[in-house]
Amino acid sequence: MLLDKKDMPIVAMEFMNDVHAQDIEIINALYETILQYEATPNEENKKALIEQYSAWFEHTLEHFHGEEVLMVEKKFPPYPMHKGEHDKALALMDDVLRNFNQTGDIVALKYYITQSVPQWFVQHIQSMDTVTAMFFKSGMSPCSMR
Ligand SMILES: [Fe+2]
Ligand SMILES: [Fe+2]
Repeated sequence: MLLDKKDMPIVAMEFMNDVHAQDIEIINALYETILQYEATPNEENKKALIEQYSAWFEHTLEHFHGEEVLMVEKKFPPYPMHKGEHDKALALMDDVLRNFNQTGDIVALKYYITQSVPQWFVQHIQSMDTVTAMFFKSGMSPCSMR
């Protein structure tokens, strides 16, 4: 197991917490396919890894989209900032997969999943998602907080 749900920061909106918990399960399953490929780097294990990575990518698209739709609907003022972090994260996810597909370089992909992603995930939830969820719940804009 790479990520523990107990360490997941909780935000004020249950639907967001649910999506984050699903994300942890998918990342943990992805981590298993990485270990598998690392131990036995054959085509079958590469395919399993890419499939799980793609499932994670699809889930992340929905995860981000779900937050963005509500931000637009509720006219969340710092929407471009939050959306910008999502877009950057998706671009990097895509880059890493593309690179692995071409080179089979498990070291770079493993480093990304075990070091960069957990850190990003927690940091993003603690900042962007926390403030956004609070806004969804109370209608209070972080710009008007004193
Ligand atoms: Fe989120
Ligand atoms: Fe987010």
